[in-house]
Amino acid sequence: MKNYLFAFALLLLCACTSDTKRYKIGVSQCSEDSWRTKLEAELEQSTFFHDDVDLVMTSANDNIEEQNRDIDSLINLHVDLLIVSPQQVRKISGEIKKATDANIPVILFDRKSDASEYTAFMGANNYNIGALLADYAASQLGGKGNIVEIGGEHGSSPAVERHKGFNDALKKYPGMKVVGFAEGNWKEESGEKAMQKILETLPQGTHIDCVFGGNDRMAVGAHKAMDRYAQSHAKEDWGRGPIYLGIDALPTSGGGIEKVRDGVLKASAIYPTHGGELMELALSILKGEAYEKTNDMETSLVTIDNANVLLMQHKEVVEQDEYIKKMHAREDSITKTMNVERYFLWAIIVIAALLSVLAAVTIRANKAKHKLIQELQQKNEDLNREKEIVEQQRDELEENKDLLLDATEPQQAEPRNEWPTDDVEQSVSRFYPDQTTTTQHQSPNIHDTFYIKFMEILDRRIADSDLSVEDIGMDLYISRVQLYRKVKALTGKTPVEIIREERLKRAHMLLQESGLTVSEVAYKVGFSAPSYFAKCYKNYYGKAPSDK
Ligand code: FRU
Repeated sequence: MKNYLFAFALLLLCACTSDTKRYKIGVSQCSEDSWRTKLEAELEQSTFFHDDVDLVMTSANDNIEEQNRDIDSLINLHVDLLIVSPQQVRKISGEIKKATDANIPVILFDRKSDASEYTAFMGANNYNIGALLADYAASQLGGKGNIVEIGGEHGSSPAVERHKGFNDALKKYPGMKVVGFAEGNWKEESGEKAMQKILETLPQGTHIDCVFGGNDRMAVGAHKAMDRYAQSHAKEDWGRGPIYLGIDALPTSGGGIEKVRDGVLKASAIYPTHGGELMELALSILKGEAYEKTNDMETSLVTIDNANVLLMQHKEVVEQDEYIKKMHAREDSITKTMNVERYFLWAIIVIAALLSVLAAVTIRANKAKHKLIQELQQKNEDLNREKEIVEQQRDELEENKDLLLDATEPQQAEPRNEWPTDDVEQSVSRFYPDQTTTTQHQSPNIHDTFYIKFMEILDRRIADSDLSVEDIGMDLYISRVQLYRKVKALTGKTPVEIIREERLKRAHMLLQESGLTVSEVAYKVGFSAPSYFAKCYKNYYGKAPSDK
């Protein structure tokens, strides 16, 4: 029974424990903004198709020390893989090495670092993006014009590479000149401030033909600063407004594509997020599948010509995403219901199994009980049979005893020492002088003193099954032979017969009048065995004592 229970417990445990390996992926973001929000949403969504993945996201608020601490805590969380978007090229390699030393693969995403131990890199080519925008600016301005550049966060790889790509490409266009440069921190306000600073320091009357923003938000900020400047300066100073170029081209509300559509930006280079592809790369690494160490993401330019199309496409994608989310929520609730049902099913299986074991044990116990009862019944029957035989033998003995007593009385009649040796008549008449003895057979005279005495003794001692003719003779002061002869002469019956008859008559009376059982009556009238009593009663009355 114990073994059964153990087996079922094990079965239940196996049923409830899934052996699918789960992956914990840590994501260390350098900051939080609309671009990163889109990336995180894509990563989350990709787990709908990889439900063996748990994501742990952190954001360092553009603070390299904070990012180092984030990575440290992700290592301590024993993540299976780290995705890091380094806030700075330097000052982070120590933490990345710490992760790879702890056998945690590291994907550098979007931004680079000087760490050499990373596992893979995924991102767009920022140098090429810078160059693409320089070429576009030249094409729009006919290869001639003044440019202001708002650089990205100092020390971050996109800022460095975009700047270099843009300026290297400009070398092809001797008529294009960067007249002002300031750094922002990727945020709109920082672009506004940087532009403000440039405008304040530019020589009077310098015409700006192009503003190159390190990303869209800073380009939009620069636009705001320029508008403000234009309002406070004379129109002739202002002249034709510059074209604004940015990077990211987010399709989301308020993002770069809308700014292009609305004419705020002339163009924006797509800086893709591609969270789905990032997840695929992470899982390939985790599952030991083949993967590329460097994974470039393509870019393209968004202008007024394609902005609307891209926004429409994005709208469709968003709708499909919503649909996928709904499907996922539905799948989630179905899975939950199924899980509950599975637990119920297992509970029912276990209960049914336990009941079967219980039933089997009960059936076995019942069988054993039945067998025992049968054996006891058999033994009981054997005992009853033996008892019957013994009772029969005893009845026979009792009968033989009576017969023997009757048969032997006259012959064995020997005078006893304490009894007078004269003949019966003399002896009886001596003790019972009123008695006229006759040798002739007479009906008993109930007034006969001897007979009255005899019956009195019998009456007194009738319940005594050991009562013998000799005992009665002793009470009457005559010998057994004398008693026999006298009783025989008076009644024509032997004392034994009289005693038995008297017992039967009493019994008959008791059976009629008392509520006693046959056995009780038998003992009350001096039979030592109810069965023998029944036999005698039947012989005498022609019916069983139980038939009233
Ligand atoms: C977001 C962001 C983007 C930019 C990228 C460069 O944090 O600033 O706007 O293109 O990072 O890594």
